[in-house]
Amino acid sequence: MSAEQFLGTTGVVRRPVDGPESERASRAWWDADAADYLAEHGRDIGDVDFVWCPEGLREADARLLGDVAGARVLEVGCGSAPCARWLSAAGASAVALDLSGQMLRHAAELGESTGVRVPLVQAGAERLPFADATFDVACSAFGAVPFVAEPERVMREVARVLRPGGRWVFAVNHPMRWMFSDDPGPDGLVVQQSYFDRTPYVEVDDAGRATYVEHHRTLGDRIRDVVAAGLVLDDLVEPEWPEGRELVWGQWSPLRGGYFPGTAIFRTHRP
Ligand SMILES: C[S@@+](CC[C@H](N)C(=O)[O-])C[C@H]1O[C@@H](n2cnc3c(N)ncnc32)[C@H](O)[C@@H]1O
Repeated sequence: MSAEQFLGTTGVVRRPVDGPESERASRAWWDADAADYLAEHGRDIGDVDFVWCPEGLREADARLLGDVAGARVLEVGCGSAPCARWLSAAGASAVALDLSGQMLRHAAELGESTGVRVPLVQAGAERLPFADATFDVACSAFGAVPFVAEPERVMREVARVLRPGGRWVFAVNHPMRWMFSDDPGPDGLVVQQSYFDRTPYVEVDDAGRATYVEHHRTLGDRIRDVVAAGLVLDDLVEPEWPEGRELVWGQWSPLRGGYFPGTAIFRTHRP
């Protein structure tokens, strides 16, 4: 049974969704979808690998986090935690956090099967259960940030748990993708709605309850969230679709990747 069937999703609406409703919907969605998500994307994200985005950019090549050997690293919205295991294998002391118990169950199983075990924490990214200045580095590959109603709270929380000088690097859907439908084909090249419309995308059940939520921020909003949290923006990486990469990953495809970016990676640090 698909996550939509399990959750009784019957439609899509655009309406405001507050923090608690977003968190409830995300937990239910990612719990229900964890097995399907991994069946579909598990091979592409790997078991002990750090792939930043559907464009296939790997931390092993990009080194956006700098030298992680010996560093205390937090992965936010880790899913099945392949990135945290890669960090651990690279010599970091990695902690993997996610809202979804089912995602973390897969993370625990993969920890056993790969022999690379990392501490797993179930919590929401807007309230990180760690003391101030606990980590040297924090990272997220499409985890949490696109799904929360108040991403500025995530930025503040990550800034709080980072030590001064610590780095926070996170990847999200490139904001310009909001204008288009999630179609990887030619229909996904046609503007459907305003880039400036921040009204969330909400899948709902018969009673109108949210079963899946995505929130939109413009590029300027994301930068303001970073700066307001007291962080310094060092770089904004827009990975290009590599020549010859044939993968279709949800809305990401070679066709669309040839025209516009699909991923934005913010590289920041706490001064
Ligand atoms: C697209 S998956 C990406 C996970 C991982 N990087 C991967 O590629 O498998 C998004 C993850 O973010 C988690 N997530 C969503 N909202 C969250 C929140 N508010 N706090 C923490 N994790 C959250 C989901 O449970 C899910 O595991």
